[in-house]
Amino acid sequence: MNLIEIRLLNPDELEKIYQIDRSEEIEHRYRYIDGELKAFDESASVPHDPNYWDTYYETWKEALESGAEAFGALDGEQLSGIVILNPILEPGTEQLLALYVDSNHRMSGIAKSLYMKAEDAAKSRKSKTLYVCATPTDSSVNFYLSQGFEPTATPNAGLFEKHPEDIHMTKNL
Ligand SMILES: CC(C)(COP(=O)(O)OP(=O)(O)OC[C@H]1O[C@@H](n2cnc3c(N)ncnc32)[C@H](O)[C@@H]1OP(=O)(O)O)[C@@H](O)C(=O)NCCC(=O)NCCS
Repeated sequence: MNLIEIRLLNPDELEKIYQIDRSEEIEHRYRYIDGELKAFDESASVPHDPNYWDTYYETWKEALESGAEAFGALDGEQLSGIVILNPILEPGTEQLLALYVDSNHRMSGIAKSLYMKAEDAAKSRKSKTLYVCATPTDSSVNFYLSQGFEPTATPNAGLFEKHPEDIHMTKNL
């Protein structure tokens, strides 16, 4: 792997997201029940499928054109990871809209470097809280726990309605 550059992406560069292989082997699914995060044995394979991004592309592009920020991890011309931050979910609360690292680049600290950029950006705006709807899988939930997020008992109502299966997590900045 070459040296990875972490930098702000402009909205037109979002199409590089199609370079990211999001595939993953899942061993557990998580649920937040009665104030407790529980892991259930449930294996699944998410295959490599560039069409995966079609579901999100337009929504994220619009978000970027309306003030959201994306940081990319670039391995030369190759986008190996991305984080997207919506700076206004609620007053003082920013939302991580997306965090993905290419499957061949995982477990080398790229998500952490991307996340730190997003956290610094939120802090520079004096925001108090970060919010994420975490995919209820090992990599996602454990990543956010490792960065100090906790499941919230008071999720954002609109987001909870849209993503009831996700683990809604927050971190105080
Ligand atoms: C979640 C994801 C972004 C992590 O990317 P990454 O670059 O591999 O993460 P990092 O190397 O920065 O890991 C930082 C910490 O997260 C935790 N972590 C990351 N992946 C993990 C996994 N599969 N299982 C357990 N813990 C994990 C570890 O504590 C790790 O710390 P360590 O390096 O000291 O062990 C990546 O696995 C991914 O793209 N997953 C699929 C997409 C997804 O679910 N994204 C989240 C949507 S909300």
